[in-house]
Amino acid sequence: MAQTQEAWSSRLGVILAVAGSAVGLGNFLRFPGLAAQYGGGAFMIAYFASLLLIGIPICWVEWTLGRFGGRAGYHSTSGIFQVLMQKPYAKYLGVIGFVVPVCIYMYYVYIEAWCLGYALNAFAGNLSQPGMNYGAFFGRFTGASSDGVALHFGLGDVGIFVLIVYVLNFYFIYRGISKGIEFVCKWGMPLLILIAVIVLARVLTLGTPDAAKPDQNVINGLGYLWNPGDIATGLKNPQLWLAAAGQIFFSLSVGFGVIITYASYLKSKDDVVLSGLTASAANEFCEVGLGGLITVPAAFIFLGAAGIVGQGTFGLGFNVLPEVFARMPGGQIFASIFFLLLFLAAITSSLSMLQPGIAFLEEGLDIGRKQSVALLGLVTAIGTLFIWYFSKDLKALDTIDFWVGTVMLFVQATFLVLIFGWGLGIERGWAIAHEGAEMRIPNIYKFIIKYVTPAFLLLIFLLFVLQNVFGWNYSFSHPEFNPTAYVRDLVGSAPNYVARLSVGLIIVMTIFSIVLVNIAGKNWVRREANQSKQETSP
Ligand code: ALA
Repeated sequence: MAQTQEAWSSRLGVILAVAGSAVGLGNFLRFPGLAAQYGGGAFMIAYFASLLLIGIPICWVEWTLGRFGGRAGYHSTSGIFQVLMQKPYAKYLGVIGFVVPVCIYMYYVYIEAWCLGYALNAFAGNLSQPGMNYGAFFGRFTGASSDGVALHFGLGDVGIFVLIVYVLNFYFIYRGISKGIEFVCKWGMPLLILIAVIVLARVLTLGTPDAAKPDQNVINGLGYLWNPGDIATGLKNPQLWLAAAGQIFFSLSVGFGVIITYASYLKSKDDVVLSGLTASAANEFCEVGLGGLITVPAAFIFLGAAGIVGQGTFGLGFNVLPEVFARMPGGQIFASIFFLLLFLAAITSSLSMLQPGIAFLEEGLDIGRKQSVALLGLVTAIGTLFIWYFSKDLKALDTIDFWVGTVMLFVQATFLVLIFGWGLGIERGWAIAHEGAEMRIPNIYKFIIKYVTPAFLLLIFLLFVLQNVFGWNYSFSHPEFNPTAYVRDLVGSAPNYVARLSVGLIIVMTIFSIVLVNIAGKNWVRREANQSKQETSP
């Protein structure tokens, strides 16, 4: 079998790699957008509750299960689940650990290309033209204005950048765990933090740029995001809890199948408890301490609250911010380095989404690095081309993000925590987690991981489905259900064919993965049989 001998070269390397996977567009665009939308105080309470009850526990679970599987020579969720559960069906539970990162990669890398494109266009002065229509630029550059319009290759088009990010991602993934992923994260993460600190210093020293609008100053910009507001009312809003929990998943990369794969390359007695906590803390520093202080305050100072409300993640990042930078002294440079920062954050995350696929292909199909990189490159390129072409209203991207990047994440995270707390057993899991550990997880987390995390996850998931699929109005006395666009696009009287094709793509990917897992299962049985023959032969 193509058994990999790969490993991280240092402890700092693996922590930076996991932090690199976590720190991404979610930290600098998604988080500030959500915090502004829901009001700082209440959102932050739900956010930190989700961090403590879902985020950190599932991180520990993934780190522990990953190292456990790695000791037995497995790096994919299918292989790891099979070793853990010793049941023929277990490997199929891991299918989602292949489908999720691969499908998310298909659109994430497309957004990564926007970031690189915006960085170079800002540098070339194309984003600071007087009277520029930023919405129109975004529409054409990303293809949001009409299908097929983004399939061009000039400097003002996304095409060339899609090619560059593809080559970079597959080059580094080909180089492997330590020479590729670890190398990029060791350089990329400190650089990213340095750039973020520079941009933050610029934003916090903006003062009151327009004397005619004294309210639009730094303090009010920070207050817009961070003033507590009406916490009690906010916390009664289920949508806010969904948003906060969803952000924790996305931001920490839990449920992606990434941390479990990364942890499988640890040495057998490497610490997982402190390392897991450190990587999560690094992510929170970048998200709350950097991302939360840059994007929204900067937008507020120049455009006021009206310029931010209802913008959404992409609107804030790619329409509002370029305009904000264009009005700022030194804005051309700050815009270029800000989008470079987004690109760095994105590439350390997108690389992590490829590794689970590479690990699975290598160990499941008994093929080498070259073949697995080629196969995964082909599969993901088909998906990205699809998303790139069917770009009107970013329909394909949004549909896949919803069904995979949100729904499947919940499902996979639930599997992971149930396998740890109930399948493996909390006492056994606890003992494995603490082998080589440099700190102890507080004992209360035994109860949390076994009962609270799964219950919280299921409750949030139920609410999520009721709200985002069936369109429940949250009323118990007069419940009403109006299926949302995600459902109407698929089964309504006026279906959207791009949405249908996108879901079709996910289904094809899932079936393809099930077939591959079936083949892998047979290979693994042969491998185990050969191993035990070797062990028993004199
Ligand atoms: N965790 C990554 C992000 O925040 C996916 O973008």
